[in-house]
Amino acid sequence: MMTQAKSKTEEASHVTEELANLMHKMGLPDVSSTRMRDYLIRLMHCYMLGYAVDFSIIYAIMASQSGETASDRRAGYLACTLFLAHDHELGIMLINTLQRDLKSQNYLDRCSALNAICYLEHTEIVDSLLALVVACMEFPKQVVRKKAIMALYFLFERSNIPIDQLEPPLRLSLEDKDSSVVFASLSIWKLILVDHGERCKDLLPTFFAIHRKIIENRIHKSFIYHGVYAPWAQMDCLSIYNIFLDLNIGSPKEIYIMIMECLESMEKKVDAAFAVVLECVKLLSVMDPTLLACFSNEPDKNPFEVLVNYLNASNLNLKYLGLVGMMYVDHSFWKDDWLDGTLIAGTLRTCDDTITAQAIQNLDTIIDHKILVHISQDLIEALKSSENQTLAYWLLNRIMEHDTDREAWFIETVIEILAVTAKRLDDDYVETQCSVLKEALLGEVQDTKLRECSVNIIYKLIKSNNSNTFSPLWVQFAFWTLGENGYLSNLYSEIDIMKQLEKCLMIIKDDDLQTCGLQAIKRCILRSKTWLSGLEKILKEYKRSPVPEKQQIARELLEIISDVEFEKQLQETDYTLSTAITANPNKPTTINHFSKNGTGRSTSLSNVQQHIPFIQETINNSAQLNNSSKKHMYDSNLSLGSHHASDTEMTTKEFGKLWVEYKIEEKRVFECSVHDCSKLAKRLSKSWQIDVIQVIGQEFIAIETSSAALLIHVAMLPQNLFQLTLKTESNPDQIHSFLTTRQLQ
Ligand SMILES: *[C@@H]1O[C@H](CO)[C@@H](O)[C@H](O)[C@H]1NC(C)=O
Ligand SMILES: *[C@@H]1O[C@H](CO)[C@@H](O)[C@H](O)[C@H]1NC(C)=O
Ligand SMILES: *[C@@H]1O[C@H](CO)[C@@H](O)[C@H](O)[C@H]1NC(C)=O
Ligand SMILES: *[C@@H]1O[C@H](CO)[C@@H](O)[C@H](O)[C@H]1NC(C)=O
Ligand SMILES: *[C@@H]1O[C@H](CO)[C@@H](O)[C@H](O)[C@H]1NC(C)=O
Ligand SMILES: *[C@@H]1O[C@H](CO)[C@@H](O)[C@H](O)[C@H]1NC(C)=O
Ligand SMILES: *[C@@H]1O[C@H](CO)[C@@H](O)[C@H](O)[C@H]1NC(C)=O
Ligand SMILES: *[C@@H]1O[C@H](CO)[C@@H](O)[C@H](O)[C@H]1NC(C)=O
Repeated sequence: MMTQAKSKTEEASHVTEELANLMHKMGLPDVSSTRMRDYLIRLMHCYMLGYAVDFSIIYAIMASQSGETASDRRAGYLACTLFLAHDHELGIMLINTLQRDLKSQNYLDRCSALNAICYLEHTEIVDSLLALVVACMEFPKQVVRKKAIMALYFLFERSNIPIDQLEPPLRLSLEDKDSSVVFASLSIWKLILVDHGERCKDLLPTFFAIHRKIIENRIHKSFIYHGVYAPWAQMDCLSIYNIFLDLNIGSPKEIYIMIMECLESMEKKVDAAFAVVLECVKLLSVMDPTLLACFSNEPDKNPFEVLVNYLNASNLNLKYLGLVGMMYVDHSFWKDDWLDGTLIAGTLRTCDDTITAQAIQNLDTIIDHKILVHISQDLIEALKSSENQTLAYWLLNRIMEHDTDREAWFIETVIEILAVTAKRLDDDYVETQCSVLKEALLGEVQDTKLRECSVNIIYKLIKSNNSNTFSPLWVQFAFWTLGENGYLSNLYSEIDIMKQLEKCLMIIKDDDLQTCGLQAIKRCILRSKTWLSGLEKILKEYKRSPVPEKQQIARELLEIISDVEFEKQLQETDYTLSTAITANPNKPTTINHFSKNGTGRSTSLSNVQQHIPFIQETINNSAQLNNSSKKHMYDSNLSLGSHHASDTEMTTKEFGKLWVEYKIEEKRVFECSVHDCSKLAKRLSKSWQIDVIQVIGQEFIAIETSSAALLIHVAMLPQNLFQLTLKTESNPDQIHSFLTTRQLQ
């Protein structure tokens, strides 16, 4: 690459030199016009590579003056526009030529000259050429008229042309029969009106008329750009309305109507339409909001409705446009799902840096505690897959700022954010956040809510994730929390917690963290007076560790658990087996598998699948069923947990009879946090609205409150699971609707 580039520049420098020599030697009369054109083209190339080609300016001017053909002269002009761009002293030499060509009857000559004017900067150009350029605006060929307006535009941009001279021809050009001339004229009116709006206020209806003609597609098809008619001309119209609005000229209502028509015409259009829409939105936004609210015929119609589709689009550019447009809109027009952050939070799911930056900017204008609560789950979803942590820092900082009460939501959310961002946040930052959390938890004395929810969320996160993915600082905080407050959870027992802690200890490798984990386990053991059999293996291993702290805590714990006061706990709760369940040869038998198997992961669910409820046994001896009692049946004063049939109208026997008769069956396994079957029965009878008939040991039977058509059997399984079996006579929909109405699908 390097050598290639070098050789190219060398070559160019060589060419420049050679050309300079040639041209000096030859003098113009001897050089054919065509050869001169070739030289000039090569020189332009050299110029663009950065070489000084001043020596050739004179030749370029001469070529534009006396090139034989129009194309030779145009090459001359082109070279002039390049070489003379910055008010070069030789520019004045071109003026004669320009004057001649602007008067030429050949339209190509006029075009070359008008083109050149757009590029030349010379103080004397305006005085010497303005009248001629204006005269070109009446030339029969439209291309000349159009180029004349463009030339005027550039002259106007560079110098103070008196408005008196400009106004009459430009007013005429707005009525030109050729649209391209009219559109060219709009671009210069846009400049003129900034200073002379008052003087030209009568033109507003003319601009409306031009704009309407475009919107209503009453112009030639050649002006269509990707489905939109003359988008640039429309943008100019919108800029002009903006100027009039600024100057308080014209009726805002009429302008509003025009903009709304424009917006409507952009519906379902793409590309340039997006730019027009954004311009319309900006324009509506500069209007007085109260006035704007009065203009709409339908009171509920929000003029900024159009942005919703952009915000909700899958295309990132459109989302961005929606966000940018939104920033212009007065908050009184923000729709509900903008104000509560829903739609903005939705855009953040894209995890695109540009969109994130803009969305954060939008959110910052409205953010408060309520909105944070509302959108935090959406943002947490976004954080899970985000490579860039800007959003995470922003969210955490806002939460710290706006949630000064430090209630349960704060604790849960911060813990979760720090977990889902894994190891991607700065360590010092994570440490600071963890200490804020710790402080909040330590500060809670009256109540237990914060500590309780911190345990629950940490348990959930540790259980469903590999602890190695978390920041070690987070893990350390998690261990501390579980150790200090584990007993406060209403969902998880100390044994559940110890099980998770042990799982973590087996996964993580860091010695310090392992020590922290053991300390947490120690606290659980001391409180609950129980320990899990799997711990022994871990302790034995840690005892041999070269790390003194780890070794010491392992020794301490080994000593503690050797005390008879501490009960060795095997997996689940102890099953106090009722006679009824003992009689069942198929009852769950895998109660102690945790102790048998160090991993504690081998549920014998396959056993369970075949497990037949105890009712089957009672059925054989069941008495005749009484039809009337089969009907409905409910007594709220259930004596749950009793081993006798309750006073429910359907008896266990009847249930058993039907159980055998009913053919359609469906089984599900669910997780639960209680270990006591009668507690589970109570809980489910409320939350599922079922009537419990009888609880026997680790099983219970029930029917649906609303109809007796569905038989329900629940059996507790090890590992916080229970199995639900549903039976119905013939219609599977009943089972289906039972599950769906309770969201158990
Ligand atoms: C956004 O789009 C989704 C489908 O892509 C749609 O379900 C939802 O209603 C849209 N939201 C709004 C506010 O239009
Ligand atoms: C992350 O995103 C922000 C905007 O959201 C951007 O300014 C920043 O440069 C991005 N950082 C990296 C490392 O890409
Ligand atoms: C971590 O746990 C959360 C909450 O339960 C879950 O949504 C997420 O998918 C888990 N992440 C991994 C990597 O398993
Ligand atoms: C423990 O479980 C594993 C797989 O879950 C199994 O291969 C192994 O035999 C089990 N060990 C005992 C002692 O049950
Ligand atoms: C109950 O009856 C079924 C057949 O209906 C039979 O297979 C089963 O052995 C009987 N059980 C007892 C305990 O009598
Ligand atoms: C059925 O039950 C009703 C009342 O519940 C009772 O009057 C009737 O005698 C019973 N019939 C049989 C056949 O047991
Ligand atoms: C129960 O009622 C049905 C009709 O509803 C009848 O056919 C059946 O014989 C009755 N059974 C008993 C045991 O009375
Ligand atoms: C159920 O118990 C309540 C009091 O706990 C009592 O008022 C009510 O009469 C009882 N209902 C029945 C059907 O026994």
